[in-house]
Amino acid sequence: MPNITSRPAASPQVLQAKQRFGIIGNAPALIAAVERAIRVAPIDLSVLVTGESGTGKEFFPQIIHAFSARKHAKYIAVNCGAIPEGTIDSELFGHEKGAFTGAVDSRKGYFEEANGGTIFLDEVAELPLTTQARLLRVLESGEYLKVGSSTVQKTSVRIVAATNVDLLAAVAEGRFREDLYYRLSTVQIHIPPLRDRGNDIRLLTRKFAEDFSERYRMPAITFGEEADESMRRYRWPGNVRQLKNVVEQLALFEAGAEITAETLKSYLPAIDSSYIPAATADLHDYGREREMLFGMIFNLQSRIDELQERLDSAHQTRLSKSTLLSDNSRHETAAESFPTSLVVRQDTTQNHTVPSEVSYSEVVDVPETLEEKEREAIKRALERNDGRRKAAAAELQISERTLYRKIKEYGMD
Ligand SMILES: Nc1ncnc2c1ncn2[C@@H]1O[C@H](COP(=O)(O)OP(=O)(O)OP(=O)(O)O)[C@@H](O)[C@H]1O
Ligand SMILES: [Mg+2]
Repeated sequence: MPNITSRPAASPQVLQAKQRFGIIGNAPALIAAVERAIRVAPIDLSVLVTGESGTGKEFFPQIIHAFSARKHAKYIAVNCGAIPEGTIDSELFGHEKGAFTGAVDSRKGYFEEANGGTIFLDEVAELPLTTQARLLRVLESGEYLKVGSSTVQKTSVRIVAATNVDLLAAVAEGRFREDLYYRLSTVQIHIPPLRDRGNDIRLLTRKFAEDFSERYRMPAITFGEEADESMRRYRWPGNVRQLKNVVEQLALFEAGAEITAETLKSYLPAIDSSYIPAATADLHDYGREREMLFGMIFNLQSRIDELQERLDSAHQTRLSKSTLLSDNSRHETAAESFPTSLVVRQDTTQNHTVPSEVSYSEVVDVPETLEEKEREAIKRALERNDGRRKAAAAELQISERTLYRKIKEYGMD
């Protein structure tokens, strides 16, 4: 996606937050998220930060805390997915001495420790349902009970939660309380995936490359134009975390080199799953093209059958000739007996099963236009399926192996 140059300049506070937390990027959706965090910070509401894994969600509760009136009190980050189910209530709310086996002393929970401050509940979808009930209560009234105690405690804690899963789906599946979902998501901040951040990919790459080369005291790496383009088009399922990791490996193993698109192939898992913006994909009539390709494959298969028959009969004829006449002066090859044009059966209406290996290219000389069309249809199917060959092959109703062979044959790698 091209970088929008005419967007309004980021506010001084946004620049301050970016600098303080080391946030790289100017993508409008990222800047909007930072702005939203700063705007909501002074209002004591719960905030839910959403976004795919590795998008940088962890910066946001820190921004909210830093720009709020609670900034001088404690900030505690809790990874809900990393605490065993059996101890999470005690970690969050504390316990009394003797509350359970091994509770030799009473213990303060995070809600007590962070009184006046902020708690960041990371991976909030992982909270057990019983803990969700306790959390709802503390959010609604500021009240909670320590494990093993019947004395109501009071606390004033601001909650910022984050998740990379679809919480509404978790609600629908009964894994997350609906009332808690609404309570937590009064304000939502969505962090965009890296693949939608355009030129930020380049900025982050340069920054990470510089940092890692410095850290490992290695000669700097540079990036060619094609490498930049490959990175911009890559899907980045692991977002910034993945990019950082890839650049770290490049900085180590390709120190001093100019990184090319070719080099990247061994560092980007399944680079063939490159990302093509949906808008481009929508410009084509895929249904029609699919029909066309299917028709082509079927026609080619018909030709193969026909050729096979002719080869067989030519073979038979030669056999009988050689046994009957023993005449070596005539070397009629199968090819010589082929007609210059073949009658092609046109039938795309029925549901045909295409054999898993259609090796027509070795047998017939495919007309260039046909080849071009096939190539084009394969390209589009791959684009539509974000480069996933399995899905593209299924859509084209050809085997994955055939598709793979075609890709190699047409040099579409
Ligand atoms: N815009 C950015 N600029 C610089 N570094 C970034 C940026 N976004 C993310 N990072 C870095 O990428 C890594 C992953 O970010 P983070 O841990 O915040 O991801 P996350 O959204 O919490 O993912 P998960 O859902 O898997 O926990 C971190 O090392 C973070 O510093
Ligand atoms: Mg995280």
